[in-house]
Amino acid sequence: MKILICGKGGCGKSSVTALLAIELEKRGYKVIVVDNDESNFGLHIQLGMELPKDFAIHFGGKRMVAEKLLESMKGEGERFSVFGEGIRASDIPEDYMSKKGGINLLAIGKIRDFGEGCACPFNALSADFLRMLELNKDEFALVDTDAGVEHFGRGVEAGCDLILMVIDPSQESIRLAEKVTKISESAGKPLYYVLNKTDDETARFLLDSVDGNKVVSVIPADKKVFRNCLVGEALDFELKGIGELADFLERKTSRDR
Ligand SMILES: Nc1ncnc2c1ncn2[C@@H]1O[C@H](COP(=O)(O)OP(=O)(O)OP(=O)(O)O)[C@@H](O)[C@H]1O
Ligand SMILES: [Mg+2]
Repeated sequence: MKILICGKGGCGKSSVTALLAIELEKRGYKVIVVDNDESNFGLHIQLGMELPKDFAIHFGGKRMVAEKLLESMKGEGERFSVFGEGIRASDIPEDYMSKKGGINLLAIGKIRDFGEGCACPFNALSADFLRMLELNKDEFALVDTDAGVEHFGRGVEAGCDLILMVIDPSQESIRLAEKVTKISESAGKPLYYVLNKTDDETARFLLDSVDGNKVVSVIPADKKVFRNCLVGEALDFELKGIGELADFLERKTSRDR
């Protein structure tokens, strides 16, 4: 199952991705974590892994990917694709994968320099990769995205089976949930919510404010998450709500098989 993790800036997308990847790996799954955030450099630290080389470099770098993307836009009905056929995690050259136990980390591309331009080529590459990625039954792909909804318009969600939206206790998240619900409906993708950084009161408020049927996990505001993200240590510990999220995804995959 390929899972897209989205939400507003700072809601905890990368933290939830890391905690979930580590939990699924403990349960015996292989996890491919796709870092699809071109701006932030934190996910690999939350996973306790090295940042791999940008996958875009394998295709000639961002400029070359951009040229191929422009070329494909000229042709009618032609879809940008650099993968001729299905790709498996084992086909990805080692240089572009960080490995730790059963977790593989792939970073599509990072913006490093001032004036480098937009992230469209990275999103196009990501969309193509996720469409073509073939998983075994014991594999999950978790896609950590940049803040907001920009990546949706680029089709990154098209290759995913399910969208998880992380919602923190804020009006921005509540409002964004409405938008993401509409997007997921038009994309034909199932959407579920993860409430993050909650206490009893904020969890109750959020449950009253969004569609409660979509909530599959409630994660507390936790000092250790905050502290480890501050000092740069991995989120390799158990946290309330993460087990429930992994249970939910396990049930989903066995039902969809
Ligand atoms: N459950 C939690 N309890 C306490 N702090 C949390 C929790 N989840 C995330 N945080 C904190 O919130 C901050 C943002 O987290 P994170 O980087 O995971 O968010 P993000 O949505 O990936 O952000 P961005 O939009 O910048 O990519 C970090 O300081 C992190 O420690
Ligand atoms: Mg992030």
